[in-house]
Amino acid sequence: MKPEKIVVFTGAGVSAESGLNTFRDSGGLWENFRIEDVATPEAWARDPQLVLDFYNLRRKALESVEPNPAHFAIAELEKEHEVVVITQNVDDLHERGGSSKIIHLHGSLLEVKSSIDPTYKIPYPKEGLSLDHRCPRGGRMRPDIVWFGEAVENFEIAIEQLQQADKVLVIGTSLSVYPAAGLVHEAPAHAEKTIIALDLDFIPDDYRFIHGTAGEQVPKLTAEWLEKG
Ligand code: OAD
Repeated sequence: MKPEKIVVFTGAGVSAESGLNTFRDSGGLWENFRIEDVATPEAWARDPQLVLDFYNLRRKALESVEPNPAHFAIAELEKEHEVVVITQNVDDLHERGGSSKIIHLHGSLLEVKSSIDPTYKIPYPKEGLSLDHRCPRGGRMRPDIVWFGEAVENFEIAIEQLQQADKVLVIGTSLSVYPAAGLVHEAPAHAEKTIIALDLDFIPDDYRFIHGTAGEQVPKLTAEWLEKG
């Protein structure tokens, strides 16, 4: 059996069946918040308490969800293949599903960082993040999330990984937020490219589209890849 390099690129749809809502399926609102009110540097400057309320809820929600069959199936591919997961998600369900190489593009709900020194990070406080949490230099702590208008993290590393892929599997992303969405075009011509989602406005060139839920379709596909080798 020939091990391959498989790059899995995920968005909110991979976590939907775990009980975490996707962004664009909820009528422009994200858990009843408008994105521009909670996920931008301007929102943080204008009303930091609202931003913290929003992310404290997102962090709390993580405690009551579990990885679904899609997360587990992706991790299982590691038995025979080299697998790298690139995710736009800020949850930790790939980690808990057993994947070992995970690149987060949009940050993580597991930590908070200083607003004046982003290298200073601590675990997300159990009781929730408040305006009183400060870094040693006195700066306010904020969620370790990439907001709209901020630079995506690990982008160069993600491009490099995609360029080396034998297979690319894109799951549960509307491909509407750039620059992350542009990564699908980084895969080499010879790579086998598949995208699994419910609705998509467009299917990138060279990609095979599998319509369906991640929890159902991902395990089917990965089982084929493990059997065929
Ligand atoms: P979206 O909410 O834009 O898209 C979710 C995609 O998942 C859609 O294509 C759905 O059809 C699909 N989907 C929904 N349920 C599914 C299921 N059970 N199985 C498979 N697919 C399903 O989410 P993203 O593309 O991840 O950014 O959004 C990208 C970024 O926009 C996020 O990372 C976030 C957001 O605003 C930041 O917070 C910076």
